[in-house]
Amino acid sequence: MPKKFSMTLATKKYNNNLMKNKYSTDGKVVHLSTEEDINQKLSKIIGKKFSDYRKSWDEANKFNLITKFPLFLHIELNQTCNYKCPHCIIGNPDEVEKLYNKNENLDFNDYKKIVDEGSKYNCPSLSAQGDNEPFLIKNMEEYIYYAHKKGFIDIMTNTNGSPINITRSKKILDSGLTRMRFSLDAFTDETYKKVRVGAIDLDKVKRNIFNFLDLKEKGGYKLPIVGVSFCKLKQNEHELDEFKNYWKDKVDLVTIQTFAPPTQNKSAYHEFYPEDQFYDDEVVDFKCNQPFQRIHIRNHEMFPCCYSLVMGDKGTENYKNFVIGNIKNMSIYDAWNGEKMKKLRQIQLDGKFKENPTCAMCVKYTFPTKKFIKSEEIRKN
Ligand SMILES: C[S@@+](CC[C@H](N)C(=O)[O-])C[C@H]1O[C@@H](n2cnc3c(N)ncnc32)[C@H](O)[C@@H]1O
Ligand code: SF4
Repeated sequence: MPKKFSMTLATKKYNNNLMKNKYSTDGKVVHLSTEEDINQKLSKIIGKKFSDYRKSWDEANKFNLITKFPLFLHIELNQTCNYKCPHCIIGNPDEVEKLYNKNENLDFNDYKKIVDEGSKYNCPSLSAQGDNEPFLIKNMEEYIYYAHKKGFIDIMTNTNGSPINITRSKKILDSGLTRMRFSLDAFTDETYKKVRVGAIDLDKVKRNIFNFLDLKEKGGYKLPIVGVSFCKLKQNEHELDEFKNYWKDKVDLVTIQTFAPPTQNKSAYHEFYPEDQFYDDEVVDFKCNQPFQRIHIRNHEMFPCCYSLVMGDKGTENYKNFVIGNIKNMSIYDAWNGEKMKKLRQIQLDGKFKENPTCAMCVKYTFPTKKFIKSEEIRKN
């Protein structure tokens, strides 16, 4: 087994000591916390079953363990949002059309079926959020509570924070949610409005966050742990240090996300890369741990990772090759243990990610060289 894997590449880019503890679960999101490691904190709150699950997670991440069922189910119920962030697929409705099928969105029964199967295999963690705003679903708390009741021990979500009023906050606090992350992507309202188009004022979202934290404290809730997140872009990178400084004492963790273009279709997305995301040389020693952790489900289809958008539009050969199966006629268990997943994992273990065209593109776009981006711009223009 390799001692080191290249998912730390993104982590290297944000080597900043403002906050003490730093970790990354997939190389694309860096978590910074001021106090103890967040997972140690959760282990203390939730107990042995949580620390056991994290041990499995760490082993899977190091490619030492292939579990019989995914450790994490990433369930994208729909693609509905009240914001139109330009760096997100949702901010680009024409691209959404090419990739998703609204008629195939998941309802509560689909969700229950997924959760029930996960529960049967003691799946420990889940997120019912994808490229959407989860709390636009009026009874999202019931979705979360259902997973909690069925034994999931780590239930997480991101939110843009706009729907989180006092009533929703109270319901969320009682839902069994473990991790709640408010995506802000800006320190000033001026930048917020640029990177989160259609957003309510940053001050209002901050008020929602502080109300949530207040209710949590007054109610004596230990969970969820609360974070804020910042997707680092050319348009906001100048505010990153102020952002971290401001939030580090107010929330449990600050996360920095690595930008990846939402599709390959438009070179206009390239304007979002911050300067320090560019690599001098093409990344060749990458091994992806997501196929060892998770199954991502959207439009009833199952995928081996969260970043399947580079695979191409619906109907293309790349798209069809990357889909692992459909929950209408295949169990998650069978998808996870099937030939497609096995082959993809082997490719990662052998360091041959380039053999899969979607993985090859994912690496090229997530850890880009300027040369590659320029060549893509020429090709598209
Ligand atoms: C897709 S959103 C969905 C949840 C919720 N609507 C929110 O904004 O948090 C989840 C996170 O992905 C980030 N994101 C959106 N587009 C991205 C991209 N192209 N690359 C990396 N992160 C992206 C957002 O900034 C947000 O923090
Ligand atoms: S709020 Fe979230 S889902 Fe909505 S457009 Fe922005 S990043 Fe995308």
